Parts: sequence; C-alpha cells; structure tokens
Amino acid sequence: MTEFKGTALTPELYAYVLAHNPPLDPVQRGLVETTQRALPAHAVKQIAEEQVPLLAFLVRLTGARHVVEVGTFTGLSALAMAQALPEGGGLVALDISEEWTAYARQAWEQAGVDGRIDLRIAPALDSLRAMPAEPHIDLAFLDADKDNYVNYWEELVPRLRPGGLIVADNTLMMGSVLDPENHPAGAHVREFNTHVAADKRMESVMLTVADGLTLARRVG
Ligand SMILES: C[S@@+](CC[C@H](N)C(=O)[O-])C[C@H]1O[C@@H](n2cnc3c(N)ncnc32)[C@H](O)[C@@H]1O
Repeated sequence: MTEFKGTALTPELYAYVLAHNPPLDPVQRGLVETTQRALPAHAVKQIAEEQVPLLAFLVRLTGARHVVEVGTFTGLSALAMAQALPEGGGLVALDISEEWTAYARQAWEQAGVDGRIDLRIAPALDSLRAMPAEPHIDLAFLDADKDNYVNYWEELVPRLRPGGLIVADNTLMMGSVLDPENHPAGAHVREFNTHVAADKRMESVMLTVADGLTLARRVG
C-alpha cells in the first residue's frame, strides 16, 4: 500500500490552519452564525470554513467570469465566489429551496453582490439543461444532491470552456465511499468519482480538503 504522507488533523491543528487563512469577512461570518442559529439541523450542509477563501482563490486564479453553482443552501459558497469575480462577472446559483436561499439573498444584498448573482429555484438538472449548450462556463461548483452528481457532471462538462474548472464537494462523503453497501450517498459519490477519473475530457485531482474536494479541468 502507498505510504500516507498527509498530516492527520486535530482540532488544534485545524484551528491553526484557519488562523493562517484569510479570515471570513463580517458578512460571511454573520452567515455562518445565522445558519447555525436558524437552521441547526441543517448547518452541516454549509461549506467548511477553509473552503470559503479557497473558492475565492480559485475564482481569482482562473480569472473566471461566468460561474455556476449547483447547490446554494444559505449562500456562503456563492457569496465567496461572487465577491471574487471581476467587474462584469456573474454567478448563476441553482437550488430548490426558497426557504434556505432566503438567507442567501439577504447576505448577498448585505455584501453588495446580489446584482452579480442570478438565483434559479428549480431542480438543478432542469436549470442546467435550460442553459446554452455551447461552452460558456468558466467555473462550476458542485454541491447538491449526490444521486445526481453524475448527471450534473454530464450537463456541465460540455458547457465548460476549454480550461474551465469543476469543483466538486464531498467527494469522500465522510469516508462512506468505502462502504457503499451501507451508505446510499457514499455509493452515489463512489460512482461519481469513478466516472470523473475515467473522463478523458477532463484532468482531475481529488484533494483531502474538508469532506473531499475534486478539482477537474476541461482538457478536451
Ligand atoms: C450541501 S447544500 C449546499 C451548501 C452551499 N454550497 C453552501 O455553501 O452553504 C446542498 C443544497 O442542494 C440543494 N438541492 C438538493 N437537491 C437539489 C436539486 N435536485 N436541485 C437543486 N438543488 C438541490 C439543497 O436544497 C441544498 O440547499
């Protein structure tokens, strides 16, 4: 077996990592707190804190102007990415929940990025299929229902510009990818990971960030 050269995270080490990342701004921090207070049973859906500066970093690194998000919840990931867009850039946010995205709308307005975000409330697969078929997306963040991950991928890849990036969250699914018989979500993500690794149109790497984060770039 290949030797593991990673560093196991302790709570102290995790706090150290966060302390050396750009801090959340007041609107981002407020959204984390509001989500935990108002939706305690669902707050785990929100991206991990270290992913906030990472998503912004990826938007800036790629120079993305047209971003699509599949799975918005209370809007933290969309907020981070929209804040990092250049002048004239835009983000299309897809979700099915009016209730959860109401918190998102508030935070986006507070941060002054609501004008850059087009929130579409409908099953994300329908919203993706309604988008232009030609390559026009620079960066897509995938963070919705796991049973549709492969379907989302298949809608996104042809719409990605050459060099465009897909960032897929939860690709370790809390380790359940290794126990698919007992975890339906783990089975779906396992199928997705196999699909991604075999896709010759994309170059992909799976990272052990938070619950697993796969970065995939369109090469063909
Ligand atoms: C893990 S949360 C997204 C977290 C979000 N990215 C954030 O930063 O807080 C998943 C979201 O996917 C949405 N969702 C689930 N099934 C969906 C579907 N079929 N179409 C669109 N959105 C869906 C849920 O309503 C939920 O808000």
